[in-house]
This record gives sequence, C-alpha cells and structure tokens, in this order.
Amino acid sequence: MKLITCNANRLLATEIADHLDCALTDADIKTFSDNEIFVRINENVRGEDVFVIQSTSRPANDNLMELLITIDALRRASTSRITAVIPYYGYARQDRKTDGRTPISAKLVANLISTSGADRVLTMDLHAGQIQGFFDIPTDNMVALPVMVDDITRRNDVSKPMVVSPDVGGVVRARSFAKRIGADLAIVDKRRPEAGVSEVMNIIGDVSGRKCILVDDICDSGGTLCNAAIALKEQGATAVSAYITHGVLSNHAIKRIEKSVMDELVICNTIQPSEEELASKKLRILSVAPLLGEAIRRIANNESVSKLFD
Ligand code: R5P
Repeated sequence: MKLITCNANRLLATEIADHLDCALTDADIKTFSDNEIFVRINENVRGEDVFVIQSTSRPANDNLMELLITIDALRRASTSRITAVIPYYGYARQDRKTDGRTPISAKLVANLISTSGADRVLTMDLHAGQIQGFFDIPTDNMVALPVMVDDITRRNDVSKPMVVSPDVGGVVRARSFAKRIGADLAIVDKRRPEAGVSEVMNIIGDVSGRKCILVDDICDSGGTLCNAAIALKEQGATAVSAYITHGVLSNHAIKRIEKSVMDELVICNTIQPSEEELASKKLRILSVAPLLGEAIRRIANNESVSKLFD
C-alpha cells in the first residue's frame, strides 16, 4: 500500500500516515507561474495499491485539478489500484438542478475523478448520500458521527441535551446523532431567500431550558448556525453548541461565529483549518485521521468498512 497526499490537507494526511505507520510517498506537486499544475511521483509505484488524499476544499478548482493530475500521473505509472481519499467533497451542494439551465456540478466532478483513473473513492459525510450514485466506481461514504459522539461522551458536560437540525434537509443526520447520545430532537425551519443568506422561520420542538447541539455537515458562511443560535436562545435554550463535519468557513466566517451567541463550534479536520481558525477560542477541532486511516487499512486488506460503524 502507498499513501500520497496533494496540497489541500497535508496535516490530515500526515496524521493518517502516522496512524497507519506508513510514510507518505515522495511526490512533487507544484504550480507553474501560469497556474498550471505539475506532478511528479518520486518513488516507484508500479503494481501498488495507492491512496491519494485530497480534499476539494478552497481553492476548490485548484485542489480538484491537483487531485485529477495526481491520479493521472499514478495511472500512467502503472499502479494496480487508485483510491481517491476525499475527506471533503467540494461541489457537493450542486447536486441537482435548482433552476432551469443550471449544472449538476457534483456529478460532473464525479465524472472527472473517474475519468482521471480513480478506481474507488473514500469520502466523508457527503452533503447528500445520493452523490455516491454519481460515481460508477465503488464509493465509501464515511460518517464523522462516531468521532463527535465520542467527544460528547468523553466531555460528559451536557445534561438533558437537545440535538437540533439547522434545516429540514439535515433531519436524518441529526436524528441518528440524537439517537446515539440519547437526546431529543428539534428542527429549525430555515429559509434561503438567496444563496448565502439564511433566515429562521420557526423552531419545531420545545428547547426552553435545554442545552442545544446543532448538527450539520457544513458550516460555510456561518449564517445558518449563527441565526439558529439566536432563535434557539430566544426560545429559552441555555446553551448552544454545534458539531459540524466540514468547516468550510469562507469569508472569515470564524469572525462571525466569534461575535455570535453560539457558545462553541466543533468541526472535524476534513478541511485544513487556517491560522485564524486555529487561534479562535470558540472553535475546537476533532481529528478524523484514525477513522479514515482505519478505513484505508480495511480497503487495502479487503475487509469490511461498514463494520466500523456497527
Ligand atoms: C445546507 O444544506 C448545509 O447543510 C449547510 O447548512 C449550509 O451549507 C451552511 O451554510 P452557511 O454556513 O453558509 O449558512
């Protein structure tokens, strides 16, 4: 087995490599002055089972091209199998036509990854589970839920928690989270009048006197969480924290979160956090490296991946 990383999340890749006790394969992944990307694998990979680690996070297009070009280089170097390990799958929110004459970019990206030469995909908390079907190659969609539940259980500082889905689309995810920690479930009725803007219409469930835990796949501008936190506190919630898999945190969202009434934001390291994020007192980061590492080990050994979630 060989592990190789592109540039989007070297910290996570290093942690995965440490977990597997397997050195990262030496490769040069450079950008020329005209922004073209060049990749050279500096070790023999002929006949190897190779795992390429790359989140297609910001800058999404550059990171996607790095992944595609690295897979192409590996395919031409006669590897036996290539698994694209994509902890955060960018473009996932464009998973359907929302209007006339719009693309389904999540499908296009899946096509690009397959066409470049990937034999399988390992990813985490896809925005919509159906995106697995956009790939005609085996795709394992891991969930970060065990890492989050373990954190809540270890800290044991939440009594009578109320898990809250910040929108109707996230109810299935939030319900399974609530079930795992034995909590009740509330739902925020969110409206998006335009892309990047969210409004809370109603809270479904009685959150008065409760410590609320918002659960979602993505925090991008932070608007969804910050607005939900205001509404929950107005309805009598005593504390509001959030557990989110992918901290997209665009446009310095962390500043918005720091100023918000939300007490804590917990994200996973599927996207490499910036210095600004690391410095934030309201942000805590959980590592999914052991979970992804174990999944990689199981794929390499042809063992069950779903067993990880039993
Ligand atoms: C939407 O369906 C997602 O699950 C997230 O709620 C959304 O992407 C968060 O975006 P923002 O932080 O910009 O409100």
